[in-house]
Amino acid sequence: MTGRPRALITGVTGQDGSYLAELLIAKGYEVHAVIRRSSTFSTGRVEHLYQDVHEEGRALNLHYGDLLDTGSLVSVLGKVEPDEVYNLGAQSHVAVSFQMPEFTADAVAFGTMRLLEAIRQTGRPVRFYQAGSSEMFGKVESPLQNEDTRFHPRSPYAIAKVFAHQMAVFHREAYGMYCANGILFNHESPRRGEVFVTRKITQAVARIAAGRQDHLYLGNLKAKRDWGYAPEYVEAMWRILQQPEPDDFVIATGETHSVEEFAALAFASVGRRWQEHVRYDPRYERPAEVDLLQGDASKAERVLRWKARTTFADLARIMVAADLRAEGLDPDSVMRHD
Ligand code: NAP
Ligand code: GDD
Repeated sequence: MTGRPRALITGVTGQDGSYLAELLIAKGYEVHAVIRRSSTFSTGRVEHLYQDVHEEGRALNLHYGDLLDTGSLVSVLGKVEPDEVYNLGAQSHVAVSFQMPEFTADAVAFGTMRLLEAIRQTGRPVRFYQAGSSEMFGKVESPLQNEDTRFHPRSPYAIAKVFAHQMAVFHREAYGMYCANGILFNHESPRRGEVFVTRKITQAVARIAAGRQDHLYLGNLKAKRDWGYAPEYVEAMWRILQQPEPDDFVIATGETHSVEEFAALAFASVGRRWQEHVRYDPRYERPAEVDLLQGDASKAERVLRWKARTTFADLARIMVAADLRAEGLDPDSVMRHD
């Protein structure tokens, strides 16, 4: 083992895990991560890190494991002996959680508990980060949500995240473990999963610009979210674990916008009107919706010196540009600059 700090990430193959792995490697960490076995490659977002071999070994070290499998978690913790654990692994799609509540709870709620118990049993002074979500606020009880706002979860996913959040608080209070919760509002990027609404829109905009698609089918356009830029949010995760005492932090931009506004911006960026391409499909409606999320991240700004920088308009443009490139188009010639 080297003298560098060691981090272990669950969920490294996802959007946030890939940005976090890059950030920690750049900060000089020895980075390890848990990946699940699947019949196709799931490592596309981190392939560049895994292939990158340094003097000290690989930039990113991968271990098979699963939040559903206690033995694999115990084994990887024993092998890696991490200083910091970032628990990002989750069935993270809210709509899917209505169809698979048991699996979602197993991965998100029980998975977090398994990992916390496995860390506790190592007896080592590990710092633990839990990837909490603004979905926990659900049917919001105040117009701006902060660390004191009551949770009112509206989906099996959000209920499982509340369990995980409380489990982290419990391990902190009962066993004196260093467990910190991030309560992150929506954050997006070109690496966002294609089934989440922002990426679904920007990918469709690029395909429509390329003449490969005409229409985009969406559900509720009125829902409002506080949308930030993912690379900035993983920086907040790291800062949360560098505090002398474990604590919980809301991470958000402080602005809220509707799905319709995002679609309007994304289509306008290539000189099109969203109304000509977007069709309504009731299958994308959820049994219970979260109508409005808007975060108050003033504690993060004060304590972590963290503040969101990328604007809503820039976020849409960054994502459209990346999807245009993926379609073989040059954003400079396709995108409008007015
Ligand atoms: P994502 O792209 O959906 O990635 C989820 C990751 O979890 C993937 O690496 C996935 O692996 C892994 N995973 C799923 N089930 C697992 C299991 N049973 N055991 C181990 N790993 C498992 O999610 P994300 O957007 O990066 O979000 C990261 C975390 O932050 C999640 O916990 C999410 O719930 C939470 N969060 C996200 C946001 C947001 O706006 N992005 C906001 C608040 C909180 P495979 O590749 O094998 O499927
Ligand atoms: N996915 C999706 N697909 N959502 C749609 C669609 C569609 O076709 N049409 C409308 N929406 C609406 C949803 O009903 C929701 O109100 C909003 O778009 C955002 O949906 P998602 O992008 O799926 O994200 P989310 O807000 O439900 O959940 C994301 O953010 C949470 C943080 O608040 C996920 O990343 C969660 O894992 C995360 O915790």
